[in-house]
Amino acid sequence: MNIAVYPGTFDPFTNGHRDLVQRAASNIFDKVYICVVENSNKNTVFSLEERVVLAKKSLENIKNIEVIPFSGLLVDFATKLNAKVILRGLRVVSDFEYEFQMSSMNKKLNNNIESIFLTPSESYAFLSSSLVKEIAQLGGDVSTFVNEDVKKALERKYK
Ligand code: PNS
Repeated sequence: MNIAVYPGTFDPFTNGHRDLVQRAASNIFDKVYICVVENSNKNTVFSLEERVVLAKKSLENIKNIEVIPFSGLLVDFATKLNAKVILRGLRVVSDFEYEFQMSSMNKKLNNNIESIFLTPSESYAFLSSSLVKEIAQLGGDVSTFVNEDVKKALERKYK
């Protein structure tokens, strides 16, 4: 079994995340675990439970995936799940430094797990959870960027 973990804060899950999971789960891996980190060094707008629920709602109808919360070291969690691959999205040059540092450190921590990066589909190259939150907070329309449940949840947060 070719298993990958796709970790992130997902505050909140966007259509860009969904696109990446869909491509990974249908074309590359037998199973993709979407791992929602409990303690992010970012201050999240949504609680862990909310982030998990919204990721699940956004991924309805995609097979061979599972959304699970996690805390602790990612490489340890991946090992528990029998995953040999950490999957991450790489959008723009500015993502590179952070991703390079994380993948190098993860490799030091566990040499058996490889990081693999997918670039976004063209229409999602500019998309980020932070921008989506900013737009929602300022009353903009986020319906093309997130699923309907996420949109409603954002409206509730910022009303
Ligand atoms: O969506 P994000 O915030 O860019 O995701 C960051 C995440 C969750 C991938 C990263 O913070 C992480 O792996 N956290 C788990 C703790 C860990 O293993 N830290 C060492 C990473 S080198």
